[in-house]
Amino acid sequence: MKFFIDTGNLAQIKEANELGILDGVTTNPSLMAKEGIKGEAAIAQHYKAICELVDGDISAEVLSTEFESMVEEGKKLAAIHPNIVVKVPMIKDGIKAIKWFSDNGIRTNCTLVFSAGQAILAAKAGATYVSPFIGRIDDSGWDGIELIKQMRQIYDIQGFKTEILAASIRNALHIIKCAEAGADVCTCPLDSILGLLKHPLTDIGLAKFLEDAKKM
Ligand code: E4P
Repeated sequence: MKFFIDTGNLAQIKEANELGILDGVTTNPSLMAKEGIKGEAAIAQHYKAICELVDGDISAEVLSTEFESMVEEGKKLAAIHPNIVVKVPMIKDGIKAIKWFSDNGIRTNCTLVFSAGQAILAAKAGATYVSPFIGRIDDSGWDGIELIKQMRQIYDIQGFKTEILAASIRNALHIIKCAEAGADVCTCPLDSILGLLKHPLTDIGLAKFLEDAKKM
C-alpha cells in the first residue's frame, strides 16, 4: 500500500517525506485555504513547491463544476509538474471530465466518493485514483472500511485498473484496516501516520535496553 499525506502544509509534508515512506500528497480546497493560499498564481506556486519536496503523485483539485471549465483548469494544473494528478469531484460533469482527461493522457483522482456505484463510474471513466472518504462515512454512522472491501472486490472481479485511494483517514487504525481491506493507497494526516509508530511495550523495551546498555 502506498502512503500519501493529506495536507497542504509544507512543514508536515517535509516531516513525513523525511521518514522515507512517503509516496505522494493529496490536497483539497479546504486544506489549501487552511494554509492561507489565495489566488491562481499562489495556488500554482504552492503545488510547485509540494512537487519539489516530494517525488510522487500530487493531487491538485479543480474548483470548477462544469465540464469545459474543469478541462481548462485541469490542463493548467497538469502543466505545473508531471507529477500533478488532477482531482475531480464525483459529479456528472466530473465523470465527463475524467473521461476526457483519461483520453488525453492526464491522470486523475476522483474525489468525494461515498458509494460502490460512484466507484464503478469513476473506474469506467478511466480515473487513475478513486478516493472513498472513510472518516466521513464513519462520521455519518456507516462503515467506511466496508466500502473499501466492496470496492476491492468489484475492481478485482471487473479487472478495473483504477487505484483505490482511501481518504478522510482519522487515525492509525483506519490505516491498518485499509491495508487489510486491500486499498492501494492511504492518504493520511501526519498524526495518523505517526500513530502507527506508537506502542507502550516498544517504549518500555527501549528504556530497559538503554538501561542495560550502561552495563555493557
Ligand atoms: C482526500 O483527498 C481529502 O482531501 C481528505 O482525505 C478529506 O478528509 P476529511 O474528511 O478529513 O476532510
